[in-house]
Amino acid sequence: MTPAVTYEHIKTCKQTGARLGIVHTPHGSFETPAFMPVGTQATVKTMSPEELKAMNAGIILSNTYHLWLRPGNDVIKEAGGLHKFMNWDRPILTDSGGFQVFSLSEFRNIKEEGVHFRNHMNGDKLFLSPEKAMHIQNDLGSDIMMAFDECPPFPATHEYMKSSVERTSRWAERCLKAHQRPQDQGLFGIIQGGEFEDLRKQSAQDLVSLDFPGYAIGGLSVGEPKDVMNRALEFTTPLMPADKPRYLMGVGSPDSLIDGAIRGIDMFDCVLPTRIARNGTLMTSTGRLNIKNAAFKRDFGPIDDKCDCYTCKNYSRAYVHHLIRADETFGIRLTSYHNLQFLLNLMGQVRQAIREDRLGDFREEFFEAYGFNKP
Ligand code: GUN
Ligand code: ZN
Repeated sequence: MTPAVTYEHIKTCKQTGARLGIVHTPHGSFETPAFMPVGTQATVKTMSPEELKAMNAGIILSNTYHLWLRPGNDVIKEAGGLHKFMNWDRPILTDSGGFQVFSLSEFRNIKEEGVHFRNHMNGDKLFLSPEKAMHIQNDLGSDIMMAFDECPPFPATHEYMKSSVERTSRWAERCLKAHQRPQDQGLFGIIQGGEFEDLRKQSAQDLVSLDFPGYAIGGLSVGEPKDVMNRALEFTTPLMPADKPRYLMGVGSPDSLIDGAIRGIDMFDCVLPTRIARNGTLMTSTGRLNIKNAAFKRDFGPIDDKCDCYTCKNYSRAYVHHLIRADETFGIRLTSYHNLQFLLNLMGQVRQAIREDRLGDFREEFFEAYGFNKP
């Protein structure tokens, strides 16, 4: 049986080792390195599927945890699956709920069978396990499902991380056994181990021996310094199969996308562009700005004169400044549109730079213009 999700390698950047490829799924293919906009509640906040397509989003991410609690995976199954329910016919990846249980709920109790915790909205007692996370994701019908893992906080002790990695490996095996639709849903394993090289190695070896169609690196961007993340990537990506997709979970700042691609990552997701958009923060070719700032009250130019998005083509900084200050819904639609388009364009530039063997040069130019090189 051919796996539901496969990786086609196009080329390796001679300057950096970054990978250019195509991931094939039952709902079509997308080019990598790719950024996945986050649609936690079966919607990328404020954006319609048509708008996401217009900005060239090839795949989006959604969340098992939230859709299980509301409206319920049974409802989405009855609707014909998540693609039909939300009217998105391109690929969808769903996270397993593991991370959300750890980041959203209090009172959690981790046992071998799974995690007992309380609903973050109403306090009800809940239980999530590898089998349940697979059942829910099978009902959702996502193209890429994620294994149920534990993502320990940073910093964690080596001793705790080791026992956690071992449990995550046992859970990964249970996920594979419980997965009912391997013919049309690809299940990715998640490598944990924090900043510890020996534990990343152990985790990668355990999961690679289980033969998933793709692998993620979890447990990063949890508060550790950037150089700790980059070092962890440097010793982890070489342990991952070259003929399968590699996904760095929860990472989406422009510098980390470029530095992740340089270390061999193919897929990324993050709430950052949409979350900061809702308070008026915009990513531009010359760095971040907050549009609420008084300086923009009479600025009738575009948000970014190098951007070709719907917002920049049609509206001024002064207008967006006014809408965000007045708490108008259209304001956060315009800022969300721009930030998403900015990151999707950035990935297009990264792919083009790989094609031309100049991603190292592109990094230097981008970092200089964005202000990452400033002390
Ligand atoms: N999202 C960001 N980091 C993680 C992680 O370590 N595990 C899961 N399941 N999701 C994530
Ligand atoms: Zn724009």
